[in-house]
Amino acid sequence: MEKLAREDAWNLLTEYTETPALQQHALMVEAVMRHFARLAGEDEEVWGVAGLLHDLDYEKYPEEHCKKATEIMEERGIDPVYIRAMNCHGYGICTDTKPESAMEKTLYTVDELTGLIHAACLMRPSKSVLDLELKSLKKKFKSKSFAAGVNRDVIRQGSEMLGMELDDVMRESIEGLKESADITGLRGNL
Ligand SMILES: [Fe+2]
Ligand SMILES: [Fe+2]
Repeated sequence: MEKLAREDAWNLLTEYTETPALQQHALMVEAVMRHFARLAGEDEEVWGVAGLLHDLDYEKYPEEHCKKATEIMEERGIDPVYIRAMNCHGYGICTDTKPESAMEKTLYTVDELTGLIHAACLMRPSKSVLDLELKSLKKKFKSKSFAAGVNRDVIRQGSEMLGMELDDVMRESIEGLKESADITGLRGNL
């Protein structure tokens, strides 16, 4: 496959995404993807870039989410591996591209989960991921009214696809965000 440099991916993302919150979401998903790539002994750069680009079209074309991103990425000659991964994150929601590779399954799972973790961090006095414990995240996961937009079924199904316990997926996602707290802005006031 032809790898896309992280810098080129970032430039492409920011060309289409100006909203700081959306850029932050992309950085969080990138960070967790990198962490899971390391765990799996896979290519951290490739997984990270796939994470960075997954919502490429969301700011400008929310009604055509994934479809527009496919067009944009194809026009730029971006490797199909990234395009397929991007489509997989919308599986059952806006695409029918089923996650198959470990990278695709991970992206599908952690996209929603990072949203939940971010919301959980914002509820904390520290506004930080650094003192967020698994136990606390699990409570938030079970509370349906908390961050109600986060699709728990996707997280559950994704963990199953990965053959991982939900607790482990959550623990490692927190870990990935702790490692990158300065990049993703999740250090809060700690
Ligand atoms: Fe998305
Ligand atoms: Fe996303």
